[in-house]
Amino acid sequence: MARPDSRYVCDSCGASHAKWSGRCDVCGEWNSLVEEAAPKPIPKGLRAAGRALELVGLRGAASTPPRLVTGIEELDRVLGGGLVEGSAILIGGDPGIGKSTLVLQAGAALAAAGAPVAYVSGEESVDQIRLRAARLGLASARVRLAAATSVGDVIATFDHADAPRLVIIDSIQTMYVEGIDSAPGSVTQLRSSAHELIRFAKRRGCALFLVGHVTKDGQIAGPRLLEHAVDAVLYFEGERGHQFRILRAVKNRFGAANEIGVFEMREQGLVEVQNPSALFLAEREAGVSGAAVFAGMEGSRPLLVEIQALVGPSALGSPRRTVVGWDAGRLAMLLAVLDARCGLAIGGRDVYLNVAGGLRISEPAADLAVAAALVSSLVEVPVAPATVMFGEVGLAGEVRAVSQIDARLKEATKLGFDCAILPGSAGTAPRAGGLRLCGLKRLSELVEVLGAGRDAKLELAHDLTA
Ligand code: TYD
Ligand code: MG
Repeated sequence: MARPDSRYVCDSCGASHAKWSGRCDVCGEWNSLVEEAAPKPIPKGLRAAGRALELVGLRGAASTPPRLVTGIEELDRVLGGGLVEGSAILIGGDPGIGKSTLVLQAGAALAAAGAPVAYVSGEESVDQIRLRAARLGLASARVRLAAATSVGDVIATFDHADAPRLVIIDSIQTMYVEGIDSAPGSVTQLRSSAHELIRFAKRRGCALFLVGHVTKDGQIAGPRLLEHAVDAVLYFEGERGHQFRILRAVKNRFGAANEIGVFEMREQGLVEVQNPSALFLAEREAGVSGAAVFAGMEGSRPLLVEIQALVGPSALGSPRRTVVGWDAGRLAMLLAVLDARCGLAIGGRDVYLNVAGGLRISEPAADLAVAAALVSSLVEVPVAPATVMFGEVGLAGEVRAVSQIDARLKEATKLGFDCAILPGSAGTAPRAGGLRLCGLKRLSELVEVLGAGRDAKLELAHDLTA
């Protein structure tokens, strides 16, 4: 049978199909298949043409890669201690979230430290970038600027012995490689552009920032394609209405993943937030039911955030569930556990859950704080003030241990909290540092701890003691 000379690749997940169809079987995306030339078959005689590799042992002198430190601490930490020379870093985020601002500020900071930096924009004109630089007070930074979209031109400009130490490409979706017959932003162009730029960066040992757009469902377009090609993937996230911005490492070959950096978007650009917990708790109101403070970990850094819940009677056959900043499936599970294991009639009610400040939490350790906010709202009793909590909840209603307890407690003490509800053996114990610890084994104990003095309001779905 003749080999087909083209195949169909999904724009969204990168899966390849022999035939066109309206929907990708792999990721379920509609209208995402685009035609591209099939890869050439491996030529015969490859073995004869190759050279034998020189194999070495695991032990041996390994040099740690030199790093370029930007001096923007929140960024350096997310990168694992600065930009590694010759590494490619993909920065993804919604339009307007501040990616261009971030890379310009990072570039200017490096330039100020004496490293040559180049900024290539395929989205904005030179004038627009100059305006932004002026607004950020960076107009005098020694960043070399160009508006271009051809990868060939970019490489021709920089591919020489004194290449810049950092090249910023804003954005990778606007770049194209000449001679490839598809539009910029398509899978083929994206892959080829990134490939060529990364090869250039490795060859010249310069760091590469690739700005990438995010699709509606929060993925960098053609994500798999680029994510495995680059050394680090950072997502810049935040709610549009909030000034907080979180830079999150989802992959990092030279540092820990899940590390976050917190910024605030101000008139004069992005400002580092050194003490994010204080910021996230700043607008907290004391004595309101339906709120609990979660002592979370983001990478190596403890972070306290307020979880807010509103539970009310439902006018609908299937009650409304709205979640911002947390996983809806996890909420459903927790409501079921509260209903089945703690006897609370919460399943048939409308539930709204919000993580204050626009943060997204993915840690299961937030279960206990979410449960506390829900129960507090349901019984209309505020959680005791100055109390933090953390712990995972299992389907049997058990409270499970979580990691990095000390870091969480230390952060709580630092911010003036005096009680922590956490997994462990029952009972309250004092602790050095002035924090009272309240250990829980079962979720039902949380209901008791929170519900002291409000028994009349607690509406039991069924009598658990019967
Ligand atoms: P931008 O970096 O252009 O976002 P992206 O490249 O991710 O699309 O930032 C755009 C938003 O940031 C814009 O809505 C205005 C806001 N902004 C400020 O609030 N302060 C500033 O100093 C700058 C430069 C932008
Ligand atoms: Mg931009």
